[in-house]
Parts: sequence; C-alpha cells; structure tokens
Amino acid sequence: MKEITDEIGFFEIVNERRSVRIFDQESPFDHQVVQKCLETAMLAPNSSNMQLWEFYRVPETSLLKIPLSKLCMGQKAGTTARELVVIVVRRKLWKSRAKANLEYIRECYRDADPKKLKRAMAYYKNLVPKFYSKYPFWSIIKQIIAWFVGLKRPMVRQVSSCDVRISLHKSAALAAMTFMYGMKAEGYDTCPMEGFDSKKVKKLLNLPKDAEINMIIGCGKGLPEGVYGRRFRVPSEQVIFKK
Ligand SMILES: Cc1cc2nc3c(=O)[nH]c(=O)nc-3n(C[C@H](O)[C@H](O)[C@H](O)COP(=O)(O)O)c2cc1C
Repeated sequence: MKEITDEIGFFEIVNERRSVRIFDQESPFDHQVVQKCLETAMLAPNSSNMQLWEFYRVPETSLLKIPLSKLCMGQKAGTTARELVVIVVRRKLWKSRAKANLEYIRECYRDADPKKLKRAMAYYKNLVPKFYSKYPFWSIIKQIIAWFVGLKRPMVRQVSSCDVRISLHKSAALAAMTFMYGMKAEGYDTCPMEGFDSKKVKKLLNLPKDAEINMIIGCGKGLPEGVYGRRFRVPSEQVIFKK
C-alpha cells in the first residue's frame, strides 16, 4: 500500500467544507465532477461490502430538478443547486450483492487455504442471509437467539429489522460523506438535506418500493451568503472521552 503523505490536504478539506445553502448560478459547474466524486464515494467502507446503495443524479438540465427541489421543502440548498444527488438504500438487493461477493471470494481466494475460502464463503452463505432475510417474526426470533447466545459469549445484538435499516443507512452516510469531501477537494460545495418529502420524492424518481432515501445533497459553487454563520461545534471535552 502507498504511504499517504499529503495529510495537510485532507485536513484542509475537512476544515473548509461547510453546508452551503445558496449556490452560484453564473459560474461554470462541471457535472462530470459529480460523476467522479460518486465513483469515489463507492469506495467508502460499507457493511459486509454489500454495497446496498444507489445514487441518483438530478442535474439542472433534468426535468425533475425543479419538482425535486420543491420536494426538498423548497430549501434554497435545493432550488439553487446545480445538481441534486439522491442517496438511496436498497435492502432488497441483498441476494444479488451476496452473490457478487461470493463470486469475488471464489476468484480472490482461488489459491488460498481451502479452510479460509470455506470460512469466507460461509459468511455470505449463512450469516448474511440470516441478517437480511425478512420472514414473519424473524426480527424478534433473531433478537431472542442473540440474547441466548450472548449469555455464553460476546454476541452482536443489533440484529432486528430496524437494526438492518440502521446498518444500511450508516454505510450510505459514509458514502455521502466521501462524496461531499470529494466535491470540496474539486472546489465545489454541498449541502446534505434530510428535510424532504420522502414519499413524494420516491414517486417522482420512480424508485422501487423497498428503496429508502438516506439524504439528498445539493451541489454547486457556494456563495459566501450561503454559509449561515461561523462554524459551531461543542467543545471536544463534551464528546471525546478516553477510557
Ligand atoms: C443527515 C443530515 C441532514 C441535514 N439536513 C439538512 C437540511 O435539510 N437542510 C439544511 O439546510 N441543512 C441540513 N444539514 C446540514 C447541517 O445543518 C449542518 O451539517 C450542520 O449545521 C453543521 O454545519 P456544517 O456542515 O457547515 O459544518 C443536514 C446534515 C446532515 C448530516
């Protein structure tokens, strides 16, 4: 692996990124950068490498752009955005993603110790289906099993249906963050939004029934008045603890 030496660049990007609510309508905006940053976002860590995310691009030229920004409660971060990116989670794709992982493992572990291969395959053949499957009462059954197993040894407790959703949204949010840092590195600004009508956005974009919207990100070149005040964070002692 390559040693990363340009640490300053990264910290500068993190410090400079702000949620910008008003985007410039005049300056050029390279929509190809959005594509590039989304492809970079796909490299974000994600639970079991299942990649249960989708990214929908709605540029200013799209007929859906104005109705979509209205569904972001008319927020300026949406109406002035040069492109909107809708981050979506797709639980239902778990079977095809598990299959893709199995194919990758077969290829990647071809010359490895057969025991290692078996263990890696078992993860996607046994554990992953247990986590993602949906049957009546399965969520509660999983929690009961976890409770009993947990009496004897450390056990993952977050196994309910709701926990599966949280897990999907965690991974999608990491991709969203990677995307926003990528955009900042390219000289553009973003605003993540959860203020939108998810039901109507799903209908507008014709998203499948199982799709859940993680967030919608407005993109463009930010105007200074689009940054609402200086940055505020609570003191680090209130949130960072050493045990
Ligand atoms: C999940 C999420 C949802 C957000 N939703 C909105 C939103 O709907 N509208 C908005 O103006 N800002 C939204 N924000 C931006 C936050 O208000 C902003 O990140 C926070 O105030 C910190 O400011 P900073 O990003 O400039 O550091 C959201 C941020 C996140 C992470």
